[in-house]
Parts: sequence; structure tokens; C-alpha cells
Amino acid sequence: MSKIALITGATSGIGEACAHTFAREGYNLILTGRRQNRLDELAKTLNELYNIGIATCAFDVQDKEAVTANLENLPAGWRKVDVLVNNAGLSQGLEPIQNGLISDWETMIDTNVKGFLYVTKIVSNWMIANGSGHIINLGSIAGKEIYANGNVYCATKAAVDFLNKGMRIDLLPYGIKVTAIHPGAVETEFSEVRFHGDKERAKKVYDGLTPLVAADVAETIWFAASRPAHVNINEIIMVPTAQANATTFFRK
Ligand SMILES: NC(=O)c1ccc[n+]([C@@H]2O[C@H](COP(=O)([O-])OP(=O)(O)OC[C@H]3O[C@@H](n4cnc5c(N)ncnc54)[C@H](OP(=O)(O)O)[C@@H]3O)[C@@H](O)[C@H]2O)c1
Repeated sequence: MSKIALITGATSGIGEACAHTFAREGYNLILTGRRQNRLDELAKTLNELYNIGIATCAFDVQDKEAVTANLENLPAGWRKVDVLVNNAGLSQGLEPIQNGLISDWETMIDTNVKGFLYVTKIVSNWMIANGSGHIINLGSIAGKEIYANGNVYCATKAAVDFLNKGMRIDLLPYGIKVTAIHPGAVETEFSEVRFHGDKERAKKVYDGLTPLVAADVAETIWFAASRPAHVNINEIIMVPTAQANATTFFRK
């Protein structure tokens, strides 16, 4: 029987790339995100390329009731999730703490921490009932090192780092693997979302350097997901060659 991967935030960037990678490897997929049209297009493309089973669920991870209703309403067969890619997340704003928008802070905390937890709670219980599973959490180098004006985004990713370590301990007796992938700069829709749709400003983030692309991260996630049963990758920090840490870039 084909394995199942549930990918949150599959409508763009790293999540979308993971959908392609896991489809290529023969997984059936549960794809989530808020944009149903993108989920439909992706499902159509992957079906044509790989002829796999796909369920799509459009919901906002910030909405606890919507998360529960959408996931719990999946047909029972879809609860046999082998891999959860806990990826939906975003950054909004890049301002010193005294100037930050409270609405941006709330969106980041509600998405990256609370939404992440709502999904984790449901799927980890399915995995316990199934007797196996692997949760792969998208952290960030921003959760490992604080940078100027990164304040709340960095704090939400530091929370993911600790939640990843906590889940690893709590789910240990159930044989459930837990991994965090902490990328540096990846060119996706991330910076455009951070700068509230300002494409020019978003592009400047990657000026003079070759950033990671979403597929680089997806292949690393696949590496973690495809280790033998007795091997768990606890965490991986991956950056572009031109990035040493959260703040040091070599730009030509
Ligand atoms: N790009 C980077 O440099 C970078 C570096 C380190 C870590 N990360 C992390 O990697 C993850 C993926 O980011 P990305 O770079 O692929 O960005 P992206 O291209 O903007 O994709 C973000 C995904 O998250 C989904 N999402 C955002 N808010 C959501 C919500 N409230 N409910 C449901 N889905 C939501 C989006 O779907 P909808 O808009 O359709 O809802 C989209 O599919 C994030 O957790 C991010 O923090 C990114």
C-alpha cells in the first residue's frame, strides 16, 4: 500500500516542492493551504505526472475549528499518515520591536506556533493510533539566531525549535520520528509575504547571491524521511553557500 504524506502550506514554496518530491517517491498526499485554486492546480499536475491519490483541504491553520473539522472529516483511510511536513508558516514585517505591527505579530504567532500546534495535536494522535509516523517541522535559522528587526518571527521559529525537541521526547515511546529542518535564505513567496506584497523589496533580499530554492529544502526533507527505520535525523540547518549564519552573507 502506498504511504501517505500530509503537507501543510503546499500551495507555494517549500510545501509545494515537497508535494512534488513525495509524489515522485510514490506517496499519496494530503495537501493543505488556504488557496483552494492552487491546491486544485497542484493536485491536477501531480496526478498527471505521478498518478497518485490526492486529498486537498483548504483551511486557515490559525482557525482551530477549521483545522479540526477539515482534518477529522478526511475519510478514515487518509488518517494513516506516515509523514507530516509541518510547513505552513510565514513572516510579516521587519521592524524594530517598538514599531512592529501588532496585527503582524498576531498573524505570525497564530500561524507559526498555534496553527502548527493544532495540526500537530491531531496528526500525532493519528500516528500514535497507527503505531508509527514521522513529523518533519519547518523551523528556520531565524529560530537559532536572532537578527535585527526579526524579533517576533525569530521568536516563533525558536518556539518551533523547542517544540520539535519536546515532541521528539514526548513521542519517543511511540516510535514516532521527529525532525526539524532549519533553512537559511530560500527564494519562495516568503519575502513577498514578509514585505506585504512589495516584490521589489522582496527581490533585494537575494541580491548578489544564489539563495536556496524550495527543491533544495524538499530534497533534504526527503533525505530525513527516507532513512532506515532505526535512524532519526533530529535536525538539520541548511543555508546557501553564500550565507554563513543568520546575518552574514557574501554578496557579489
Ligand atoms: N523562505 C525562507 O527563506 C525560509 C527560511 C526558513 C524557514 N522558512 C519556513 O518555511 C516554511 C515555508 O515557507 P516558504 O518559504 O515556502 O514560503 P511561501 O512560499 O510563502 O509558502 C508558505 C506556505 O504556507 C501557507 N500558509 C501561510 N499561512 C497559512 C495559514 N494561515 N493557513 C494555512 N496555510 C498557510 C501558504 O499557503 P496559503 O497562502 O495558500 O495559505 C503557503 O503554502 C515556513 O514555515 C517558513 O517560515 C522559510
